[in-house]
Amino acid sequence: MVNLFLKDDNIKANVPNGKSLREIARKTGASMEFGCRVGDCATCIAKVIKGGELLNDINEKELLALNAIGAQDDNLRLMCQCRVEAEEGEIEISYFI
Ligand code: FES
Repeated sequence: MVNLFLKDDNIKANVPNGKSLREIARKTGASMEFGCRVGDCATCIAKVIKGGELLNDINEKELLALNAIGAQDDNLRLMCQCRVEAEEGEIEISYFI
């Protein structure tokens, strides 16, 4: 299990490999906001403070949306496009950016 810390809501969760951040947010009651849920609107933008290497690689759609809003920081990701891809480790995310 991966230890996930959603900093802005002070939520800690043990997350299995393959779990999406959208599903984790729903199950934990995190205040992370979603709009389109398909990688177009960037409402779900968040900063991966720690453990970015434990998430899936950024996809083309996500990259386009991040570029469209001028996101310069490589640690910014769209949570609706992210899932955990690791068996263990620590991830920390902040979505009030
Ligand atoms: S909810 Fe629209 S890009 Fe994630």
